Amino acid sequence: MENSGELVHIGRPKRSKVRREPNPKRASRGKGVYIHTFGCQMNVYDSEKLALLLESDFETLDSPEDADLILVNTCSIREKAEHKLYSLVGGFKNLKERNPDLLIGVGGCVAQQEGKNILSRSPLVDFVFGTHNLSEVPNLVARAQSGVTGQVAVEYRDEWEELPLAGKGGRASTFVSISRGCNKNCTYCVVPTTRGPEVSRPVAEILQEIRLAAIRGVREVTLLGQTVNSYGLDLLPRMKFSELLELVAEIEGIERIRFTSPHPQEIRSDFFEILENNPKVCKHIHMPMQSGSDPVLKAMNRNYRMKKFYSIVEGVRAACPEVAISTDIIVGFPGESDSDFEATLEAMERIRFDSSYSFAFSERPGTKAAEFTNQLPLEVRKERLARLQALQDQHTQEKLDSWLGRETEVLVDGFMKSAPQRVQGRNSQNILIHFDSEYDDLGPGVFVSGRITRASRYTLHAERIRQGVSNEVPSR
Ligand code: 5AD
Ligand code: SF4
Repeated sequence: MENSGELVHIGRPKRSKVRREPNPKRASRGKGVYIHTFGCQMNVYDSEKLALLLESDFETLDSPEDADLILVNTCSIREKAEHKLYSLVGGFKNLKERNPDLLIGVGGCVAQQEGKNILSRSPLVDFVFGTHNLSEVPNLVARAQSGVTGQVAVEYRDEWEELPLAGKGGRASTFVSISRGCNKNCTYCVVPTTRGPEVSRPVAEILQEIRLAAIRGVREVTLLGQTVNSYGLDLLPRMKFSELLELVAEIEGIERIRFTSPHPQEIRSDFFEILENNPKVCKHIHMPMQSGSDPVLKAMNRNYRMKKFYSIVEGVRAACPEVAISTDIIVGFPGESDSDFEATLEAMERIRFDSSYSFAFSERPGTKAAEFTNQLPLEVRKERLARLQALQDQHTQEKLDSWLGRETEVLVDGFMKSAPQRVQGRNSQNILIHFDSEYDDLGPGVFVSGRITRASRYTLHAERIRQGVSNEVPSR
């Protein structure tokens, strides 16, 4: 799965909850849903869809205590997915005792894989829905409310599900899914099993969703797909990913376009051209390398070799010297020798990624690599991960320090947790930027220029340098 998107983050993906403003109309009816999301942006996006699908009956809550419905959106890409699910659901036992009408539904990748086993393993769970069955959730809920038990909806669908559109008010940035599933079959990965083959979403639907988001004030969209740049190859007529980017860039109000994650094998010259020529395309590429060793890439069924990867990095940097490049890396893949691992560290030294998500290989049930007989001891995987992350920390810090004193344009996307009067946002390179003073006229959706005053771990700090910035988008 190639969709970890944040630039300055090393290690585990964040566990995220959907937070939305309470809907006053629904609050009077008193029903609330709490959605707990594990995993990647794709799951966060699906959870947002669930919240929208249910909003006529349920207000979205930030915590489970007062919920009438709890949905758990699971992720099985790495280890302990089931353990995390059952321990979370187990924690809801007292809520169910207090409120016997409380319903619990489990969706996402673990649900897709485990189906009805979830119901037998946890009697607290009322229904299960798969990765292609979000639109059925309102019906599952209604039937469960009327006493139907044991519902499991995990069938694959060939067509793209009809779902409500993203981009509620008050947001600067939103995700938009452009394809689902994956045809790549990397030997370590569960995604082709849990999310099925790759299907591109019709272009008209994507553009409509983004136009509506722009009307609601969204300025930045992140296009999501497991291999986002193979978009459109299954459409009739075919469409190139770069053509889709051009169309999105034409939408009034959308000033920044991100995408995650491109697969190195699918990168062609049009990709460099659009990066160089379209100012709305952000100067950040998250491109999973997975390993710096050709034999390991081969065993992973990653159909590119390091020569190609290096040439893409050079091409991207030549097209756009300001670009930030981040990646995903797996260490301790079955059969990874000391010298394979050293090759990964050398690749990191040579490329100097701005950031990386890195993982110790974990055997995912049903994948080819889980069956390989040359598994490495856990200590070796852990020790290699620690070494790699220490090196990445150095590179990340170097990159952040290089911003000191420079000017950068920030799209404000919210307020700092530690100082709620002060705004934060991201620059084109996707670095999180905190403003050190309060500015009354800045809020989500506003672009502001900042000068970097300080670099801390994973974050830059800025002072505002251009006064009088309004909600209008600065010209480029
Ligand atoms: N073990 C460790 N890491 C994995 N990833 C995917 N599957 C596994 C696995 N079995 C990582 C890859 C992918 C990221 C989203 O998760 O690096 O790009
Ligand atoms: Fe990404 Fe490979 Fe998994 Fe597809 S199979 S989602 S390309 S890691």
